[in-house]
Amino acid sequence: MNNYKVYLAPLEGLADGPMRKVLCAHGGYDLCFSEFIRVTDLVVSEKTLLREIPEYQNDCKTDDGTPLRVQLLGDNPKTLAQSAVIACNLGAKSIDLNFGCPSRFVHHSGAMLLKEPELLHEIVDTVRQTLDPKYALSVKIRLGFLDKSEAPQIVKAISVPGVEEITIHCRTRKDLYKTEALDWSAIRPLHELTGGIRIVANGNINSYQEACDCEKLTLCDHFMCGRGAFPEPNLGYVIKGEQQSYPLSKVLQTAIEVIEVFSATTRTEKTVMDRAKQFLGYARVHRSELTPFFKDFCRCTNVADGLKLLENQISKEELSVHEI
Ligand SMILES: Cc1cc2nc3c(=O)[nH]c(=O)nc-3n(C[C@H](O)[C@H](O)[C@H](O)COP(=O)(O)O)c2cc1C
Repeated sequence: MNNYKVYLAPLEGLADGPMRKVLCAHGGYDLCFSEFIRVTDLVVSEKTLLREIPEYQNDCKTDDGTPLRVQLLGDNPKTLAQSAVIACNLGAKSIDLNFGCPSRFVHHSGAMLLKEPELLHEIVDTVRQTLDPKYALSVKIRLGFLDKSEAPQIVKAISVPGVEEITIHCRTRKDLYKTEALDWSAIRPLHELTGGIRIVANGNINSYQEACDCEKLTLCDHFMCGRGAFPEPNLGYVIKGEQQSYPLSKVLQTAIEVIEVFSATTRTEKTVMDRAKQFLGYARVHRSELTPFFKDFCRCTNVADGLKLLENQISKEELSVHEI
């Protein structure tokens, strides 16, 4: 056991309401995030927030009680600040600003703004000054746009008094998700630039050992985990030393829950199966044993067959564990 805190990362197109419901029920996370909500020169509507964030119906928590933070993405300080107020008036307890998204489709926002520290400062300052201090504000960045030498200037720009924490994905925008580009050690010298604002480490923290290694290099004890939540559905508990990694049968059981939770929404059968395939697709990145099953599962187009395949595979896994 340790005193680590573990957050489930915002994952657009991946960790939406139903998927958060499944991941948080297993994960042992201290906090989760909405997918980014885009804010243009118009403030976000209540309708959009209520549609994208089912947790609003549950005091901004997932069903298991994991608190949810609303993430906003945009470049307009005023509409971002007003949108943050709307999100909190609806029931959010905290807001996160996304300056880490590398997508070209987000235009002048997300990680694109890492090139403009003055604008970053203006956004964070305006949102912090507009939002009642009782609501926490956090900021998510990468180490830089082109080069990690940009990190100190970016961190200084967003270290506005009253910001609760800064999450740093330890790659630059240019690095995208390249494994070899990940650099946890770049966080360490940044602590002294934040004026006491906590830094949350992010990027490839997928196991207990990786969290320990990351702590040594970063001096952080708060970690944000994204893609690792799929191969290790109980990743938060694993990182805190409270549970062992799930056996494969429990990962497959979690895929059944993905089907059940999405089936209970208005999604089509195809979408339900697509989301189960997406879950297993991410899971098999670190669970290569799943690959042959995943290939069979991908051929399956209806829920009844999908559940049958999963149940058969779970029986096989449990049998093989007994035989060992
Ligand atoms: C499919 C996908 C969607 C993502 N969506 C968001 C998002 O909405 N907001 C955000 O700040 N970061 C987003 N990210 C970045 C993650 O939050 C996280 O910083 C990144 O995946 C690195 O962490 P990991 O190695 O634990 O996955 C996304 C990443 C992926 C792979």
